[in-house]
Amino acid sequence: MTKVVAIDGPAGAGKSTLAQAVAEHLGLERLDTGAMYRAVAWNALDHGIDVRDTAAVGEMARCLRIEVGDRVTVDGKDVTGGIRTAAVDRAVSAVAANPEVRDTLVARQRQWVAERGAGVVEGRDIGTVVLPGADLKVYLTAGTGERARRRATERGDGRSVAEVETDLERRDRLDSSRAVSPLVMPEDVADDAVVIDSTGKSADVVLREVLACL
Ligand code: DC
Repeated sequence: MTKVVAIDGPAGAGKSTLAQAVAEHLGLERLDTGAMYRAVAWNALDHGIDVRDTAAVGEMARCLRIEVGDRVTVDGKDVTGGIRTAAVDRAVSAVAANPEVRDTLVARQRQWVAERGAGVVEGRDIGTVVLPGADLKVYLTAGTGERARRRATERGDGRSVAEVETDLERRDRLDSSRAVSPLVMPEDVADDAVVIDSTGKSADVVLREVLACL
């Protein structure tokens, strides 16, 4: 029986939609680990902490209460909308490259799964680092143009597709070149991961491809 599902891939590949659908299908809870890194970035900006100050951000992350579910809260404050802004988009790669933050969040992610004994977890390093023993690992990707179009539509914050695309490319570059747990590219994915390119496919088609692997 499939109990632990890991979904990795770059921004805008459709991970959240897929994770939600797989979780519903299997009757499991879902954890969006990107929202945890975003919550730390949001809190650094809110407190005027320089996101490049590794020690200060690491210490802050250790003490921060983060709840990620239908709503996202930090120390009890609802930041569901606040973590999806262009300012957080810009700040989050530095936070995600911080080894102290990663240690803290990876431990919490493993604890989340251990408490439930099951779940659908989405991120960048779930199948490779956080849960290498996951029952099913999916690496979801899509062309940059399509990922930017999806992000721009989803955000509706007035940024053009071209602007979003430039930001996505910058973030992919930072996420895949950092020293700790870099975002892996399809060719480096764990041997046991199913690689799905969602370009031109509806969410339903992608879900069916994943369900076929169960
Ligand atoms: O998926 P997202 O755009 O919400 O992720 C936000 C940032 O966090 C992005 O820069 C990648 C990073 N991230 C990560 O490094 N590891 C994860 N497991 C999840 C997200």
